[in-house]
Amino acid sequence: MKKKMIPFNKAKTYDQEFLRNFRILKKKTNYSACGYYTKKCEKWINRNLKTKFSVMTHSCTAALEMAALLLDLKKNDEVIMPSYTFVSTANAFVLRGAKPVFIDINVENLNIDINQIEKAITKKTKAIVIVHYAGMSCEIDKVKKIAKKRNIYLIEDAAHSILAYYKNKPLGSFGDFATLSFHESKNMHCGQGGALLINNQKFIRRAKIIRDKGTNRDQFSKNLVSKYSWVDVGSSFALNEILASFLYPQLEKAKKNTKIRVSIWNSYYGLFKKYVKKGYLDLPTQNDYSQHNGHIFFVILKNKRKDFINFFKKRGINCLFHYTPLHNSIAGKKFSISKKIINTNDISNRIVRFPIFSDKKILSKKYFEEIKFYLEEYFK
Ligand SMILES: Cc1ncc(COP(=O)(O)O)c(C=O)c1O
Repeated sequence: MKKKMIPFNKAKTYDQEFLRNFRILKKKTNYSACGYYTKKCEKWINRNLKTKFSVMTHSCTAALEMAALLLDLKKNDEVIMPSYTFVSTANAFVLRGAKPVFIDINVENLNIDINQIEKAITKKTKAIVIVHYAGMSCEIDKVKKIAKKRNIYLIEDAAHSILAYYKNKPLGSFGDFATLSFHESKNMHCGQGGALLINNQKFIRRAKIIRDKGTNRDQFSKNLVSKYSWVDVGSSFALNEILASFLYPQLEKAKKNTKIRVSIWNSYYGLFKKYVKKGYLDLPTQNDYSQHNGHIFFVILKNKRKDFINFFKKRGINCLFHYTPLHNSIAGKKFSISKKIINTNDISNRIVRFPIFSDKKILSKKYFEEIKFYLEEYFK
């Protein structure tokens, strides 16, 4: 009998809870946005991620676009970010006419190389975006210090990092803005969704308007104005209530599922460690300051990635590579500035990600016995 493929990701659903919530929604007759479940999700985020204010959006991409709008960027303003990230991190700013300035990542945990930030700052620099890759963080205190000294905004692309911490404080609570993703590939999901977290009070009022097509409908819903109208730029950025009602049970179970993911991550780490000593691969460095959430388990191979991925695929384990560096892409070359980038080019050719999701029936003891056996076979 052919062995079933272990998928790279298996998005969880809470069917009973979703159906119960849907029945509640039907009684409330508000399926569109900014209603009962949106408020519950926002409350959960503010409480658990220690953020001042949050806005549910239809994606992390939308949240990044909102941040770019709120910053009022002008043509050719510059935004420093790593090249090793998803396209939306950069595209959101390009849509405003600004230029991403790509810098390198560190080899320890693939976060932005903070030593390169100051050198990339010019008079046109308006913001720094840090991406908490795989739910790990850079030394945020140091980046915050630079941002403060140079009067530059800080944005955390926290698409990977819900319930991960820097010095015991949740990621998402450090920047002027942070953005979350609830895409099905993330630790908690609603198919596709996101949130903009705002820690800088001065952006809160306008964020409510920009999310709602540039209208003051939020004030209208609170009886603060007699009718709502067009008051600013904006778009339809909100998450719909049906998806928020799907997401809320995921958030309620988020802590438990994060623990499961971290324990699966630790099982991989335990097995791969010996191959670091033997010189076949590298693993992320676990820093005292960064407490990850088991979003991605990756290894950096010394060579022959294609052979390695094919070897595991043939044995029913779906391993994947990750980002293609943005500075090398067609749009990246057209719209951005790139600094000296070495690690990004190198790592992107050598990284391999293993399946990880919060299901110990599939990623079981037996599964890890198989991984152990296959690693011995591959590296014999
Ligand atoms: C670092 C990063 N930022 C932003 C995004 C965009 O997220 P979404 O699909 O929710 O728009 C992704 C998607 O995976 C990502 O990896």
